[in-house]
Amino acid sequence: MLKEWSSAYRIGIAEIDEQHQRFFDAAHRLYEAIFELKGKEAVAEVVAFMREYAELHFRTEEAFMRRHAYPGLSAHIKEHAAFFQRLEELEQDLVMIGPSQELANRALDITQDWLIDHIADEDVLYALHVKAGSPSTGGTVTPLVR
Ligand SMILES: [Fe+2]
Repeated sequence: MLKEWSSAYRIGIAEIDEQHQRFFDAAHRLYEAIFELKGKEAVAEVVAFMREYAELHFRTEEAFMRRHAYPGLSAHIKEHAAFFQRLEELEQDLVMIGPSQELANRALDITQDWLIDHIADEDVLYALHVKAGSPSTGGTVTPLVR
């Protein structure tokens, strides 16, 4: 199910929150292109955009965690790698089988729904770590609603 971005998904770090929202948009574009059974090229384009945006976002997060000596960095990097693995599997199926409602739902599951869970389970942890370490940064961690 398509979900609207919500301020409940914020972790209180402006740059990351903004990227999460754009990640969400990319996930919706991916879903729509597959759901609307767009042509091969159009679908390949949205998959590529999703991948590029995820790369940019994960790079930002990983650099941020490194900068703040976050102890959960390597486990977090594995989560990011697993995302690309699933995206690649989806891409292969799109090429082999072609777009379908089932693949559109899977796309949403591995992007939009994955992100919501990933924020709640993983991203809040580094946000808490950073805030605990530097109270001067201010801001609060918003409780997450799924
Ligand atoms: Fe992350």
